[in-house]
Amino acid sequence: MEIRGACIAGLGAYVPQRVLTNQDLCDIVDTSDQWIVEHTGIRERRMLAEDQATSDLAYEATLLALEDADIPADDIDLIIVASVTPDVPFPATASLLQAKLGVRGAGTYDLMSGCTGWVQALATGSQFIQSGSCERVLVVAAEALTRVTNWTDRSTCVLFGDGACAAVLEPCDPGQGLLSFAMDTQGDAAHLLTIPAGGSRTPMTPELLADHKDRLHMDGHEVFKLAVRGIPEIVGQTMEKAGLEFDDVDLCVMHQANIRIMDAAHRRLDIPYEKMVINLDKYGNTSAASLGIALHEHKCEKGIAPGDHILMVAFGAGFSLAAAVFRWV
Ligand code: COA
Repeated sequence: MEIRGACIAGLGAYVPQRVLTNQDLCDIVDTSDQWIVEHTGIRERRMLAEDQATSDLAYEATLLALEDADIPADDIDLIIVASVTPDVPFPATASLLQAKLGVRGAGTYDLMSGCTGWVQALATGSQFIQSGSCERVLVVAAEALTRVTNWTDRSTCVLFGDGACAAVLEPCDPGQGLLSFAMDTQGDAAHLLTIPAGGSRTPMTPELLADHKDRLHMDGHEVFKLAVRGIPEIVGQTMEKAGLEFDDVDLCVMHQANIRIMDAAHRRLDIPYEKMVINLDKYGNTSAASLGIALHEHKCEKGIAPGDHILMVAFGAGFSLAAAVFRWV
């Protein structure tokens, strides 16, 4: 018996209104617009308002995804939210989103995996559709990175921004929608990108707080190398599973972390630049949300045709890698 497919039937994205430019950051740390653009490709990013939290961003993106899918919120069976910046340590942001949507009878949980979270959540949600356990799964990635940014560390504070994306997954014909995915993690490199304190290993103390250990720490150099080395491998696995060649890819949407990582990937994967979706100049690295925000923007501005092959590639904390190929329905 052929297993039914799982496709993205609706897509939405939301970024907060407040813009933080490179010039604004020059007032906070010793940096320059030129350094940031040359080393990262980022020109500005968005920052959530004081009274906003991750679930608020998730809600806005979800409303657009539901509208795009043309379904009421009540039709959702399961809500998965990918985030490393939840409203509170627990309960899950997905539960808070469920309350905002007023959905009854839907399961909820969060998936905490940093920048790979969106691809992992899409793969996870698709399993529920393909197995017949769910008819409609809402997959959201929402991040408020500026809440965990160390504003005294110029090597990280210039990189991150806030935003959310959402997708409604529905059943489709076999051979359509999600064709394949692959995941890999190098847990021995987990310390390279982390919030060092505040968990069960190192509970927070006033000294740790004063030392910004409640904030994001990253060895950018090492993360850069792991990403550039790991992307061709994870993409190769995904393409092989889907039975596709690189020429078959119509659109490549990568996690929007650094233009130099994208440049390196585009050279190694032999995917033409015009097939890559790039919008990190406007939003910076919004972690799990970046890929979906870029995909949504491309869909709104240029459209995606049925049958198009979309390659998604993400990497980040863990150190984790994930890639997926969709045949658009
Ligand atoms: N403005 C000005 N100078 C800066 C700076 C900033 N914002 N940040 C760092 N520098 C300085 C450093 O202090 C260093 O100075 P020094 O040589 O006097 O010590 C110099 O620039 C070079 O630092 P380096 O860390 O080697 O820069 P880089 O070219 O590796 O760029 C990153 C730093 C963070 C931009 C880069 O490593 C990177 O993008 N890594 C990947 C990070 C990423 O994408 N993470 C998310 C994965 S999900």
